[in-house]
Amino acid sequence: MNVLGVESSCDETGVALVDADTSGVPKLLAQALHSQIDMHQAYGGVVPELASRDHIRRVLPLTGHVLSESGRSLEDIDVVAYTRGPGLAGALLVGAGVACALAAALGKPVVGVHHLEGHLLSPFLAADPPEFPFVALLVSGGHTQLMRVDDVGSYELLGETIDDAAGEAFDKSAKMLGLGYPGGPALARLAEFGSGDAFELPRPLLHSGNLDFSFAGLKTAVRTQVLKFGTNVCEQDKAHLAASTQQAIVDVLVKKSLAALKQTGLKRLVVAGGVGANARLREQLNAACAKRGVKVHYPELALCTDNGAMIALAAAMRLQRGLAQPRQEYGFDVQPR
Ligand code: KG4
Ligand code: ZN
Repeated sequence: MNVLGVESSCDETGVALVDADTSGVPKLLAQALHSQIDMHQAYGGVVPELASRDHIRRVLPLTGHVLSESGRSLEDIDVVAYTRGPGLAGALLVGAGVACALAAALGKPVVGVHHLEGHLLSPFLAADPPEFPFVALLVSGGHTQLMRVDDVGSYELLGETIDDAAGEAFDKSAKMLGLGYPGGPALARLAEFGSGDAFELPRPLLHSGNLDFSFAGLKTAVRTQVLKFGTNVCEQDKAHLAASTQQAIVDVLVKKSLAALKQTGLKRLVVAGGVGANARLREQLNAACAKRGVKVHYPELALCTDNGAMIALAAAMRLQRGLAQPRQEYGFDVQPR
């Protein structure tokens, strides 16, 4: 079964083809990605209308590329999957529209995929895929969640952010420091030149006794410090603040992940979503988990942020288990929220 996946929820157009037998982890045959980062950079963030227009320009050429790369033709596609949400409404509609049109023309079914389920399952495309059950730390631009995952589709929410997401904390702090978009990688790069304990920043809910997160207070503390800096701030102080901000976020993510592992008694942790690319987070999670005999799984670095492979994969894993409802009714059903 060849599943084509289309991702267009935000600022990356992703297309991929996976091959799924009845059992076993689906295999990635080919994928193609176009990032809109350069286009949005001038505006300091994603401009939804520009994002939609660019998805329109990219999605068919990327599909052609994936087919030729995989040596498959349109007729070899058995199911077309697309991101149903969450994401930007107009951007989602492009992927859904193209997926539905393609499937209708081929007489094949479509499957809508939850973007976060794509992130969550993306480590299954890594060389050493996880086994169920595991604890998942899902850290993206819009979400910060801890989950107990017993199988595909069997997710128990253990805790989540009550305000900003971890990625948002990275992005907004980076913006206040005058760094580019996307802020996470920019802040992480600057942090390499600073010290994580140079500034005392809050770690909200660190000792709350539950698995919820909060990053709004940290954002306020960063803003207060940036205002204190004024206009004459030196690069070293900016690097110290970047490192301290990163450390505050990482400390909370590590501590809560360990608490979730303790609470569930599980010995496997899966980290997914864009913030999962953060080197400091990986380093500290690896060290803390090694001490406790916990195995940590990450997606390949290139699959941490948005991509089509995770969408094709999530659809294929659901189809293998009879959990997806492939439909040959082609009305769009995007769910931005
Ligand atoms: O999963 P993703 O690509 O998109 C969403 O579904 O939100 O995550 C994007 C988020 C952004 O907030 C970005 O700044 C953050 O992931 N990010 C990072 C790093 N790479 C991406 N944050 C910290 N360090 C990184 N290396
Ligand atoms: Zn994402």
